[in-house]
Amino acid sequence: MSTLIKIFLLLLIIDLPSISPLTFLLNKPLSYLCTHHDPLSPLPTVYSLLPPDLPQKFHTVGRLDAKTTGLLLITDDVGLVTYGTSGAVEKIYRATAMGALNATQFDTLREGVDLKGGLGNSDPCDVKMIKSERHNTVLEITLMQGKNRQIRRMLHEIGSGVLKLERTEIGGFRIDDLDLGEGDIKAVDEVELDLMIGYKANVKTR
Ligand SMILES: *[C@@H]1O[C@H](CO)[C@@H](O)[C@H](O)[C@H]1NC(C)=O
Repeated sequence: MSTLIKIFLLLLIIDLPSISPLTFLLNKPLSYLCTHHDPLSPLPTVYSLLPPDLPQKFHTVGRLDAKTTGLLLITDDVGLVTYGTSGAVEKIYRATAMGALNATQFDTLREGVDLKGGLGNSDPCDVKMIKSERHNTVLEITLMQGKNRQIRRMLHEIGSGVLKLERTEIGGFRIDDLDLGEGDIKAVDEVELDLMIGYKANVKTR
């Protein structure tokens, strides 16, 4: 290798430090938006819960609507956004549904329902009964999909509705294992992302 090329390569290495992607896990509180800016809403966004003065642009990995709480990944790594919304990662939601749901309604949820609005059918999924009361039912729904307001659409379709909705798990991240109060964030590194959701980050170069 010529000296010139060696010098050039050396300059490249000095000039191009690798920058690790930055990802946070948030326990999203009620009444926060996942959009960057919604001129029609006075509500704050989840990005306002990140440490201030971070220069990079962050994105949520999928979205939770304003009335939904629970685990949400926020990252500056677009590869993670793509991976996390591709159907590769299992998510578990705990919903309080209106009414005492019967076995037929549970079966319908499991088999899949028309989500309406041109979104097609929900894929077959796991639905677990947690608690049944006279006026409501607590259930746990496991989804790989993440269509717009999917759980709300599913429960609406069986003649019920959502009273309360929380995402309790994203892959191996479980809200019960984490010491994350509502609105709290925690940085997660590449090793955890690989272990918990099977995502292998590409370390970017500038
Ligand atoms: C289950 O509940 C739905 C909605 O209330 C009702 O239409 C259906 O007849 C019920 N099915 C059974 C088997 O009770």
